[in-house]
Parts: sequence; structure tokens; C-alpha cells
Amino acid sequence: MSAVDRLRPGSTLLVTGGAGFIGSCFVRDILGRDDGTRITVLDTLTYAGNEANLQPVLDDPAQAARLRFVRGDIADPAMVRPLVAEADAVVNFAAESHVDRSILDPEAFLRTGVIGVHVLLDACRAQAAALAAGERRTAGGDPRPAPRYLQVSTDEVYGSVESGRSVESDALAPRSPYSAAKASGELLVRSYVVTHGVDAVVTRGSNTYGPYHHPEKLIPLFITNALDDRPLPLYGDGLQQRDWLYVSDHAGAIECVLRRGESGETYNIPGSAELTNREVVRQLLDALGKPWSLVRTVEDRPGHDRRYALDGSKLAALGWRNQVDFVDGLRRTVDWFQANEGWWRAIKGGDWDAYYERQYGRRLAGSEAAGPEPAHPAG
Ligand code: NAD
Ligand code: DAU
Repeated sequence: MSAVDRLRPGSTLLVTGGAGFIGSCFVRDILGRDDGTRITVLDTLTYAGNEANLQPVLDDPAQAARLRFVRGDIADPAMVRPLVAEADAVVNFAAESHVDRSILDPEAFLRTGVIGVHVLLDACRAQAAALAAGERRTAGGDPRPAPRYLQVSTDEVYGSVESGRSVESDALAPRSPYSAAKASGELLVRSYVVTHGVDAVVTRGSNTYGPYHHPEKLIPLFITNALDDRPLPLYGDGLQQRDWLYVSDHAGAIECVLRRGESGETYNIPGSAELTNREVVRQLLDALGKPWSLVRTVEDRPGHDRRYALDGSKLAALGWRNQVDFVDGLRRTVDWFQANEGWWRAIKGGDWDAYYERQYGRRLAGSEAAGPEPAHPAG
């Protein structure tokens, strides 16, 4: 295990996209530890950003005192530069994150995933230059290291993996506008490390689930639809495989890489359960006590990646282990959605119906019963 911890006690982190699903978990978990870390969240609050995700921090005055929320776009240099100048590290969660929306409307994916990442990296480069010129100093007048940059990326950059597990040196082979934008962001990180000596690391996380997950994604969509006895639109044969990672494990692994990862390196973050979508849906219906007859087979996602699977040895060598298995994580997730109906009903109001109709209207009109349910897990 690497002994070096790149974060000093009392560090200031700039967390971009910190009002989204995984970013807000990262913020809640770090500020909940009360170790003196201060966090600035920069988030433009797209349809997926939600200040309510940070409410547990705001409810605790000691934590709230260490959080600053700034509404703004990572692609806006005037907004980004002063915030990066104040930071010891930049953790970039900001992205358009839903594959289906990238098929409907790709442009915002490129603006945030390419221009936004470039603006953040360029601000880090400027701080490295300021340090070299003797202009970046602590309050006590000592040289202050330039900010470390962490790019939160995804296993989807490897494309569909029919067999085996992806290792970090595998070729990038994205197949959707979403994953192409994420791969582009990674390439920019690499260019700033090589050309400008920026201190930067990349994580490639697996499919993440848990509390505060936006209800456009498979698990929260199916939980919330099932709670209302509405149909569950399963794409194609439902035998696509994903490796599910509980959200606090994803956030913890990102912190581990931020602290101990080697600059210029990329780290896979695998989940703890490789399951077909049918198996996931079977388990969530069991947890809710709802029938399989809610599941409808609908037209497949274009270019649908069949399988993702990650080798996690490099991350394990930094000392990280996932803590939450899928049975426990799904139970916690289902309980959270049952207890926080107001949170997801607010999201499923507004312009949700227009999105739902566009994505699912025709699909559900032409849907069929989903065929025999998979076997119930033993025990
Ligand atoms: P999310 O959609 O829930 O949150 C994204 C956040 O970024 C939102 O708060 C949004 O308002 C903000 N944002 C978007 N564009 C912005 C911009 N231009 N400037 C500032 N803020 C902006 O996404 P998530 O599921 O929490 O994913 C977070 C990151 O993790 C993304 O980069 C995603 O690609 C990556 N990732 C997600 C998963 C997953 O399964 N959810 C897995 C691996 C990697
Ligand atoms: O693998 C990491 C990625 O996981 C992240 O980079 C993305 O940000 C995140 O959205 C997620 O992408 P997926 O496309 O795998 O997640 P999603 O929840 O959209 O879909 C999971 C699987 O379920 C996928 O095979 C498509 C299927 N699905 C999804 C929806 C929304 C359905 O069958 N029906 C649906 O309505």
C-alpha cells in the first residue's frame, strides 16, 4: 500500500457536481467525519442536481459551517478559476450521466464532459504555474502545493465487454455519446499530466446505486414505478450484465484514490455483484413485495452495451475494499426510497412527464409481458 496521503488535515476540496447522486454522497460522508476538511460544491443544478441531496449537511451546524455551495458551470472559466485557486484538490463529478438522454440530446454531454473538464484542468495548470512563480502560498507564506485533480470516470469507456474483466491499460472503446464524452474527458486529463505536469488521477467506477439516485436510472426507476404499481420497462431481453457498486463504496474508493493514487494513473472501481438486469429486477420486486407481472419487455436501447466487468486489483493495492454487498445495499436503497417519497415525487413532477413520454411512451405502447421470472435467489 502507498504510504503517501496527498491530503493534509484541514484541506479545502472543490467538489464539482457535488449536488448530484454520487458527489453528494462524497460530500455528506466526508463532512460527516468532522476531521476539519472544508468543501466548496460547484454545481450548476441541471435537472439531475438537487440541493436537497445536501440537506443532511445543512441540518448539522458544525458540518454546514464547512460547506460552501456555489451555483455555476464548470465550463465557465471566470467561475472556475478563483475556486480552483482556493482549493487543495478538485474532485470532478460534474457530468451529464444518463446514457438514454445522451442518445436523445448529446450536446450538453460534450459541453460538460469536454469543455468543462478542459476548463477545470486549465485552472489547475494555472495554479501549478503560480506555484512555480512563487505566487501560490499558504497563509503562513510557505509554498502551497498546486491542487490535485481527480476525474470521476466510468467503466463504460471500455465499451461492451463480452468476457473477462477490463484492466486499466485496455483500449478505450466507448459506444454511446455519454461514454464517448467521458472517454474524451479522460484523454484531456492525460494530456494535462503529460504536457503541463498537472497532478491528476482518474477513477473508472462501476454501476452505482443507493439513496438519492435519480429516478431516471434502472434501480430507482423500477423501485418508484413499482411502489405506484406502474409498469417496469425492461430493455430487450434483460440479460445485459452490470456489476453493482453501493454509492458510499464508490465515494470511499474515490477518496482513497484522491489520497493515495499515483499522479497520471487510472483506477477501476468494481462493484460487488455481477447480475443480469432480470436478476436485479427480481430482487428489487422481492424486497418490495411486488409481482413480476409489472415487468414489461420494451424496445432495446440503441447500441446497448451487453456487459461491463472490472478488474479491481490496482485499487485493492491502494488498500481499498468495498464494504456493502448487494443484498444489504438493495435493502438500504429500497428502505430509503420508501421512507423518502417526497424526495422522488418532487423529481417525478415538473418536466418529468415529458421526458418519460419521450423515452417510454412508444416503447410501453408496444410492450410485451416480460416472460418467465428468473429464479429467486437461494435463502
Ligand atoms: P448525476 O447526474 O446524479 O449528477 C451530476 C451532477 O453534476 C448534478 O448535480 C449536475 O447538476 C451537475 N452538473 C452537470 N453539468 C454541470 C456543469 N456543467 N457544471 C456544474 N455542475 C454540473 O450523476 P452521478 O450519477 O452522481 O455521477 C457522477 C459522476 O460519476 C459522473 O461524472 C458520472 O459520469 C460518473 N459515474 C457515474 C456512475 C453511476 O452509476 N451513476 C458510475 C460511474 C461513474
Ligand atoms: O457503468 C457505469 C454507468 O452506469 C455510469 O457511467 C452511468 O452514469 C450510469 O447511468 C450507469 O449507466 P447504465 O446505462 O448502465 O445505467 P442505467 O441505470 O441507465 O441502466 C442499467 C441497465 O438497465 C442497462 O442495461 C439498461 C437497463 N435499463 C435501464 C433503464 C433506465 C432498462 O432495461 N430499462 C430502463 O428503463
